Amino acid sequence: MAETPVRAVPPAGNVHVLNAGREPVVRLEGISKRFETKSGAVQALEGIRSSIGAGEFVAVVGPSGCGKSTLLRILCGLEQPTQGKVDWGKEGHAPRLGVAFQEHRLLPWLSIEQNVMLPRLMQGSASAADRERAHGLCRLVGLSGFEKRRPAELSGGMKQRASVARALFTDPELLLLDEPFGALDALTREQITADTERIWMERQFAALLITHSISEAVHLADRVIVMSARPGRIVAEFKIDLPRPRTEVLGSPEFGKLCSDIRKKLEL
Ligand SMILES: Nc1ncnc2c1ncn2[C@@H]1O[C@H](COP(=O)(O)OP(=O)(O)O)[C@@H](O)[C@H]1O
Ligand SMILES: [Mg+2]
Repeated sequence: MAETPVRAVPPAGNVHVLNAGREPVVRLEGISKRFETKSGAVQALEGIRSSIGAGEFVAVVGPSGCGKSTLLRILCGLEQPTQGKVDWGKEGHAPRLGVAFQEHRLLPWLSIEQNVMLPRLMQGSASAADRERAHGLCRLVGLSGFEKRRPAELSGGMKQRASVARALFTDPELLLLDEPFGALDALTREQITADTERIWMERQFAALLITHSISEAVHLADRVIVMSARPGRIVAEFKIDLPRPRTEVLGSPEFGKLCSDIRKKLEL
């Protein structure tokens, strides 16, 4: 496995240390994944070894096709690794997970409120308290007043907000985000990123964000993992000790330096 240098920047005051001394919610123990296809085998991931602390925000950046989504699918149990394992710690099973994908995956025939409480609807029926909770989450992600609308009536950014609200419905201990803001225009994306940071600071869940955007990773994460082109391996990890909320340091030299250091490690 490649060495994983941890590059620390000097703490810039008011550091928001969340996971210090906490047990990891998950450990990735040498995960490799090989797909057998008609046109041959594809080695998607190789020897991924890392962990996510309780309340820690981790971002993964890497070139297209390097196995990022595969890694996330392994964490949700949608794929099995060919080697290595996902260790969920003492409990031995996954904690409460919330997942948002690149495509919003809202059901077009349901209202936003119903989409947000879909995890409950899938178990049977939703109560007044569930509806209340869905409304609270709509408020949290900036969708108040749109609860009764259908997805087709919302902009792309609003649909992504709804999919994040749905991912939060289960009050996840680990939130998995697979490039959920990738298809949005730059301004909308910046706003949603800032809102995501605010929500995470309020709720303190662990998060794994997969993204193409280095600045989004540095804005949100406590730690950024850089992956190589396929087969995806971890080539570097960067600890991000910038103060939060980071909206206030987006234009700072420290922020820019971290982005350029990460870019140098990426084979785009
Ligand atoms: N179910 C599958 N069957 C075969 N190949 C797959 C499957 N899923 C992903 N792959 C291949 O694995 C590699 C990594 O894919 P993916 O995890 O989607 O990359 P990323 O999200 O980093 O763009 C790609 O070459 C992709 O074609
Ligand atoms: Mg992907």
